[in-house]
Amino acid sequence: MVNKITVVGAGHVGATAAQRIAEKELARTVVMVDVADGIPQGKGLDQWESAPIELFDSRVVGTTDYAETAGSDVVVVTAGIARKPGMSRDDLLNTNAGIVKSVAEQVAKTSPQAIMIIVSNPLDVMSYVALKVTGFPRERVIGMAGVLDTARYRSFLAMELDVSVRDIQAMVLGGHGDTMVPLISYTTVSGIPVTHLLAMDRLDAIVERTRTGGGEIVKLLKTGSAYYAPSSGAVQMVEAIVKDQKRILPCSAWLQGEYGHRNLYLGVPVKLGSKGIEQILEVPLTADEKAALDKSAQAVLEPMSVVKL
Ligand code: LAC
Repeated sequence: MVNKITVVGAGHVGATAAQRIAEKELARTVVMVDVADGIPQGKGLDQWESAPIELFDSRVVGTTDYAETAGSDVVVVTAGIARKPGMSRDDLLNTNAGIVKSVAEQVAKTSPQAIMIIVSNPLDVMSYVALKVTGFPRERVIGMAGVLDTARYRSFLAMELDVSVRDIQAMVLGGHGDTMVPLISYTTVSGIPVTHLLAMDRLDAIVERTRTGGGEIVKLLKTGSAYYAPSSGAVQMVEAIVKDQKRILPCSAWLQGEYGHRNLYLGVPVKLGSKGIEQILEVPLTADEKAALDKSAQAVLEPMSVVKL
């Protein structure tokens, strides 16, 4: 375990992430920080009071003061407004950019060595805002989207095939939007190519459901967006970093020529360990997949070019 992990934002995603981090004992202290006085303190105390039953020794504390987050090893940024039905992630752009900017300024001051995991939407652009504002190296500012999108894809495949989720290996690349790219060519069931087990029309339907998976939850909830699976995704990345697992996971990374793209955040396979992104893996894609990734990059560049820093 590390000394301190901070979760910025005590909303549904942030609070659920903090509880999962504490239950996994990934840090001695888990700090939840939020501008809404009372919410982080109340939720943090409530979570700590679950410790005698859930049996974890991580202390959870809530605060509105970044001084309490000082020296964090990992900072998970979930702050921002969430989508309502009919909104795209890009509709959140300038409101959340302002929020992420002020968060990033505080983090750079109080936890200059932290590895940041960005969860706020629109994800790829908010990661860019955090990178620019902190001036941190790209290894330490990582967007969480691919692990969530991949979890959705795997969960749908497991339902369709009636097999364990454990046996579905897959990866979803690209931006965190409806142009994301589930890679059928790298999807296997215990090593068996999924195309041996499922007809193409079923696979296409699952790919489409994955792409709109966030919106499906927004439509059902009506008042907000998903948080159980998003917080699981963020915590999977935290765990890989804290335990130096060197896991290969799809994460949004600041590309410098990889996959033919430069100066934008895009979901690609990376190795995650104690230094953050330790490697970006470049793997061959089919012509269709490469074209889909390029299209997804365009969908990230558009909001990126208008965001106010
Ligand atoms: C989703 C939102 C959180 O995909 O982006 O559910």
